[in-house]
Amino acid sequence: MSAVDPLSVPAAAAGSAFAPAREAFATRLGVLLATLGSAVGLGNIWKFPTLTGANGGAAFLCVYLLATFAVALPVMIAELAIGRRARADAVTSFERLAPDGSGRRWRWVGGAGVLAAVLLLAFYSEVAGWVFAYLADAVSGTALSTDAAANAARFGALSADPLRALGWQWLVLAGTALILACGVTRGIEAVTRRLMPVLFLLLALLAVRALLLPGAAEGLKFLFAPDFSKLTAGVVLTALGLAFFKLSLGIGAMVTYGSYFRADQDIPRTALRVMLADLSVSLLAGIAIFPAVFSFGVEPSAGPALVFMTLPAVFAQLPFGGLLLALFFALMAIAATGAMLSILEVPVAWLVQRGWPRPRAALLATLAVALPGVPAALSQGVLADATLFGRTAFELYDFASSGVLMPLVAIATALFVGRAWTRTQFADALGGPAGRPSRLAFALRVLLRWVAPVAIAVVLVQGWIG
Ligand code: PHE
Repeated sequence: MSAVDPLSVPAAAAGSAFAPAREAFATRLGVLLATLGSAVGLGNIWKFPTLTGANGGAAFLCVYLLATFAVALPVMIAELAIGRRARADAVTSFERLAPDGSGRRWRWVGGAGVLAAVLLLAFYSEVAGWVFAYLADAVSGTALSTDAAANAARFGALSADPLRALGWQWLVLAGTALILACGVTRGIEAVTRRLMPVLFLLLALLAVRALLLPGAAEGLKFLFAPDFSKLTAGVVLTALGLAFFKLSLGIGAMVTYGSYFRADQDIPRTALRVMLADLSVSLLAGIAIFPAVFSFGVEPSAGPALVFMTLPAVFAQLPFGGLLLALFFALMAIAATGAMLSILEVPVAWLVQRGWPRPRAALLATLAVALPGVPAALSQGVLADATLFGRTAFELYDFASSGVLMPLVAIATALFVGRAWTRTQFADALGGPAGRPSRLAFALRVLLRWVAPVAIAVVLVQGWIG
């Protein structure tokens, strides 16, 4: 523990008792867009819309919102508050703010977050690599075939070719590292501030185009028509898992970004805005995708099949299909970039805290991801049969991060803030209008102490046995 007791200083005034001699986000809008950049990712495009459509439309959205407000949003607020109060990377933050004498134990929570970030990025960057490869193809006009089987073969060829799979993954990682090496303000903030508006513009354009298609109503029905009979216990857990992944929780990313928040930033309000904007992106993505899918009578699919096989075939049949496809992959590339910046920043911030110069920290963190990334990249090709517990490296990393580490870190985070901090300390850490009635803090604390840990534990166990 440091000599200063961070919890005895009103955080709303200074943001933290620790002198923020570090870099931080410069503007409030920058804070918002960088955090939104993390939340908006591949999940908005290939997970959210299909899950919503397949699990009851508007009924699923109700459950998603409930899971978000009761569990995900409180954990997000807790992560951001921890980071801003400690003004440090994920590991140091937990260590600094832990009750006396328990710092060494709590820092493992941050350590698990760093590990989760590395594993998550080891396969997320592979998918992002495919996106950039397709973007390059779409721009040069070669990704288009109206035949879904031809597209499947094309995707198979890309993902099974070791050189191309690895090459694109490394390119994507190198780009991310380069941005991070430029710094928090001049790297993360500058890039996300420019890219996020472009993302919304592209999305609006694609959504309007899709709504003008003859099959639009069918697509909207798939997405939104409420079907409460689909709401099983499994669907509720799916919604909770999705809410978590969407808000980038459980890897220390929000702790790290929170440590760059301005002292006057109202954390609950920022989290709510990010969540609503992220939800809008997901819904608009669904509106951009499904009317097109339905107007050509194609079965809606999810994941790589939707993005790399179905959609190119669908877009190819539209006027200016090549252009639309290029715009769509540009949208995906932007979404993936903002998310990857926040994932890689977790180990980078940790190294910087330990005295590494930022560019070198970015290089080392990238190597730490690229190494385990190799078997992930090859798992669609030469290493397809190399499995452990019946899973390829790609699937193993996915399970170890989203299925094990991220929920565990999230539970620990909820308990850390809900139980180790007093109500006043928590209310102070949230920031916002001075003297804001602590009713909000009270409600959030109840959710963090009881509701969130139990709900996440259920998802965790369900993931293991299901
Ligand atoms: N929120 C990102 C998405 O939707 C994924 C992510 C998870 C990013 C965890 C950072 C941390 O794709």
